[in-house]
Amino acid sequence: MTRPKVFITRQIPAAGLDLIRAECEVDLWPSELPPTPAELKQHVHGVDGILSLLTDPITAETMDEAGPQLRVISNYAVGYNNIDIAAATARGIAVGNTPDVLTDATADFAFALMLAAGRRIPQGEQNVRSGQWQTWGPQTLLGADFAQATLGIIGYGRIGQAMARRARGFDMHILFYDPTTKVDSLAEKVEVDELFARADVITLHAPLNEQTRHMLDAEAFAHMKPNCILVNTARGELIDPQALYQALHTRQIFAAAIDVTEPEPLPVDSPLLTLDNLIITPHIASASIHTRDEMAVLAARNLMAGLRGEKLPFCVNR
Ligand code: DGY
Repeated sequence: MTRPKVFITRQIPAAGLDLIRAECEVDLWPSELPPTPAELKQHVHGVDGILSLLTDPITAETMDEAGPQLRVISNYAVGYNNIDIAAATARGIAVGNTPDVLTDATADFAFALMLAAGRRIPQGEQNVRSGQWQTWGPQTLLGADFAQATLGIIGYGRIGQAMARRARGFDMHILFYDPTTKVDSLAEKVEVDELFARADVITLHAPLNEQTRHMLDAEAFAHMKPNCILVNTARGELIDPQALYQALHTRQIFAAAIDVTEPEPLPVDSPLLTLDNLIITPHIASASIHTRDEMAVLAARNLMAGLRGEKLPFCVNR
């Protein structure tokens, strides 16, 4: 029997790769950098399945280049804004993603960013390394308190709710904004403007789509409190980068910590990199060893289910 052909756009952990290799003819992209659109086009030609990363734009053209035998696209991420879902659905191609397995790792990281930005940990570390630490000072690097502070969660899905559980342990009050979730015992549901106005910390866990793109613009920042700390581990495009720069530069808000940027990677001459009240990390919120193994296994299971014509464990266009 002929084995299905698949293109995997990057080296994923062996936990998932070995499962795929056992059943499929694998074309594995060898570089650490993503394939260019031309390389992607060339490698998808004639495949039955694609295992993609969030850095790979899978457009209608990519699907047509693959051919009518393409049955499944398995994204190694919970977010799938890199894939044209409508085009996949129209062509009968199942699209899978990897939720659940990265919830705790991502919430842990968002919480760590909140604490680091509020207590100015990178600035403290920088002071020590650069020799600026001369004595203990009553006013040195004063930061935020979290007990009794109000956390505003935008996007109250799995990761947003995991943030609420963590915040509960820190005695925080919790608000959430999510048009699709009704009520919750841990958090108070509010409209987004009320969340902007009341929250001491705002953390983003919403998907990127046409409704959420740049939802944090200059007007949104104008509603926030001057002590507000903004955390983003979702997608960079949720925030207008110019508005973020202005809000931090003018101290309209206290600080921000972002694991995702627009664009990614952020150019080294980005004005955002000149700000001392902004922490930026390179999209690593889900990067724990166990989580990335679990994501690989789930992406492999989605891929192979699609190739067999079975229901995907996690399908976004059922
Ligand atoms: C995702 O899964 O969408 C994250 O951004 C990376 O793990």
